Amino acid sequence: MTDFHMHVLPGIDDGSRSVEMSLGMLERSASYGVETVAATPHFYAWENSPQKFLSRRADAYGQLMEAAAGREDLPRVLLGAEVCFFDGVSGMDELEELCLEGTDLLLLEMPFTRWTERMLREVETIQRCGLLPVAAHIERYLDFQPRAMLDAFMDLGVYIQCNASFFLDRRARRALKMFRAGEIRFLGSDAHNLSSRPPNLGGAVELIEKKLGREARRRFEAEADFLISGE
Ligand SMILES: [Fe+2]
Repeated sequence: MTDFHMHVLPGIDDGSRSVEMSLGMLERSASYGVETVAATPHFYAWENSPQKFLSRRADAYGQLMEAAAGREDLPRVLLGAEVCFFDGVSGMDELEELCLEGTDLLLLEMPFTRWTERMLREVETIQRCGLLPVAAHIERYLDFQPRAMLDAFMDLGVYIQCNASFFLDRRARRALKMFRAGEIRFLGSDAHNLSSRPPNLGGAVELIEKKLGREARRRFEAEADFLISGE
C-alpha cells in the first residue's frame, strides 16, 4: 500500500519538525501496512525557487535516510512535492523535477476557491507537456465547485488523490461513491505530524474493504502501485 501524500521530511515545511518525528510517522505508516510513502513537501513558488526547494528537500531527505539506515521495517520513501497552483505554473521549467521520483506524476494543490476556465486550461497545458497532474485532496475543493466545473475538471482526465480523512468523516458516503466510480486513484494521509494530523490510512482502507470488499481494495492498491512504478 502507498501513502501518496505526506509531509514526512523533517524541517522543510509545516510537516515533521524533526528526524525523530519523521521516523515516528514512518513507523506509524508501517503499522498500517504502508510499504511506500511519497514525501510531498509544500512547494510554494513565491517562497522558494525550484532550485532552492530541491536543495532543501535533498538535505531533509539525506537526514532522514541517515537516521533510517538499516531500518527495513520502515516504508520506502519516494521524493515528490505538493505543488501549489499558480497562474503560469505550467510554464515553470523545473516542473518535471517536482514530479514523484521516477514518474511523471505531479501532485498539484488546486486553489481553495471556485475554479475558472483559465485554471482548467493551465492544468491542460501541464498535461500537454507530458506530465500527469494529480489533484491533491480532492475532497477539500468539492464545496467550492459547481457540478459543471467539477465535471469539466474530471473530464480532463486528471488523476485524483483523496485524503484518508474523507473516508473517516461525515462525507464517507461520498468518498465511497467516488471510489466505487473509479474516480480516486491515490490515497494519502496528508500527515503533518503524529498528533493533530497523523498518518491514518489504516481506517480508510479498512472501511473500503468492509464496504466494497477485499478485491476492490486489492485492485485499487495494485493500480496505484502500477502508476507509481512509472511504467
Ligand atoms: Fe498536503
